[in-house]
Amino acid sequence: MAYHFSHPLRLVVKLRSFSYSGDALLLQDVEFEVKAGECLVILGASGAGKTTLLKLIDGLLKDYEGEVLLDGQDIRKLKPKEIYSKMGLLFQNPDEQLFAPTVFEDVAFGPRNMGFDEEEVIRRVLQALDLVELSGFEGRSISQLSFGQKKRVALAGLLAMGHEVLLLDEPTLGLDPIRERRFLKLLKRLQEERSITLVIATHQVDIVPEIADRVLILSEGKVFFLGPPEEIFGTPQPLEKVYLRLPLVSETFLPLWERDGLKKLPLTVEEGREILKRLLSNNSLPNS
Ligand SMILES: Nc1ncnc2c1ncn2[C@@H]1O[C@H](COP(=O)(O)OP(=O)(O)O)[C@@H](O)[C@H]1O
Ligand SMILES: [Mg+2]
Repeated sequence: MAYHFSHPLRLVVKLRSFSYSGDALLLQDVEFEVKAGECLVILGASGAGKTTLLKLIDGLLKDYEGEVLLDGQDIRKLKPKEIYSKMGLLFQNPDEQLFAPTVFEDVAFGPRNMGFDEEEVIRRVLQALDLVELSGFEGRSISQLSFGQKKRVALAGLLAMGHEVLLLDEPTLGLDPIRERRFLKLLKRLQEERSITLVIATHQVDIVPEIADRVLILSEGKVFFLGPPEEIFGTPQPLEKVYLRLPLVSETFLPLWERDGLKKLPLTVEEGREILKRLLSNNSLPNS
């Protein structure tokens, strides 16, 4: 993969421990790096600590042992403006993110705050709304949008600021199936065309192979796995203990795992189709 940024490592997370005040230890020895232009997915069951980890990376939570570096600088020593000029967090619930009365006003807030003149603000808002397929929605009232539309407005707000690093908390949760697919394609495009670095928290196993360069599985506040999706989903794995499962496509092909020729489970529909085509053309599907 080609990386276009001068910083090969955008984020370095070396977290010794974190707990909410008075509560038990929530995150422990979570260490990873995110390369410029990479898409890292943080996968874990509900309550695993994903949202907490994203807030900590974004500098919203500061009371922990360890350090988080953004382009080599300690996030706790950066001013808010220095953080949000580079990196933005898409909250799981768009109602926590959106606050202006109209779509235009909301998306314009970030670039205005960054000091761009009104002409540039308008250009950025229109371009961002176009990217999230909401052109023409400028004058709409936020309160009248669907959940999925609100989510896309919130993303447009971040895109209008031109972040180089996007942290996304459950970005596809609550979207219609076709919107989910388009949202993932959009994120992939942002990564490929604009070299935006993505860190995505999700509990939706099936989206991981669609988008991740690497996946970090978080379980009970610790790193259970860190590596490419093929490595963890390409072979039968006991994921029940971390309250996860293989992607459905991989599970579908489990009965063929033992057979010659299938050394790696497919992770996506496309990969599954390829294997089926090969087996059908060799006429080598099992009878039972
Ligand atoms: N502000 C908070 N104060 C105390 N406990 C919290 C707070 N936010 C989350 N938690 C707890 O921390 C744990 C991890 O939560 P979270 O980071 O939201 O996990 P995930 O996003 O993986 O579902 C949960 O047990 C949750 O109840
Ligand atoms: Mg969460």
